[in-house]
Amino acid sequence: MAKNFIGLDTEKTEQLASALNDLLSNYQIFYMNVRGYHWNIKGDNFFELHVKFEELYDDLLLKIDEIAERVLTLGHRPAHAYSTYMEKSEIPERKDVSDGKEAMGNIVESFGKIISKQRELLNMAGDADDEGTNALMSDYISEQEKTVWMYRSYLGQ
Ligand SMILES: [Fe+2]
Repeated sequence: MAKNFIGLDTEKTEQLASALNDLLSNYQIFYMNVRGYHWNIKGDNFFELHVKFEELYDDLLLKIDEIAERVLTLGHRPAHAYSTYMEKSEIPERKDVSDGKEAMGNIVESFGKIISKQRELLNMAGDADDEGTNALMSDYISEQEKTVWMYRSYLGQ
């Protein structure tokens, strides 16, 4: 089997890059949804949630850049057009959400999708001996599982 410039199986690396681009697309739509929550939230918890959503979208943005640069590190091109994101993202656009609980519920649901995708990538990366992608996914999963616990606690779940 052919190996690429960092010693990874060429075909498996191509599949990994494609799955990472799929993940990136989900992150981009998720990111824009959370910006919308930050802007449009109303009610008693405005100050708390406005800040919380900013903290979340800042973190998503960091991960967006890391995922895109991982695709480049693997020798492929990261998706960079909203039309592509819309086509690939399983997370739907959320418009005009001003209710805090609804926003939080959407966030928990989106994290569920993102974490599952990352777990699939973790397995793919393990199979391809791609330690770099593996470590990245592993860090994201444990961090976000904890975030989901806290957000669900906020929702009384
Ligand atoms: Fe702001």
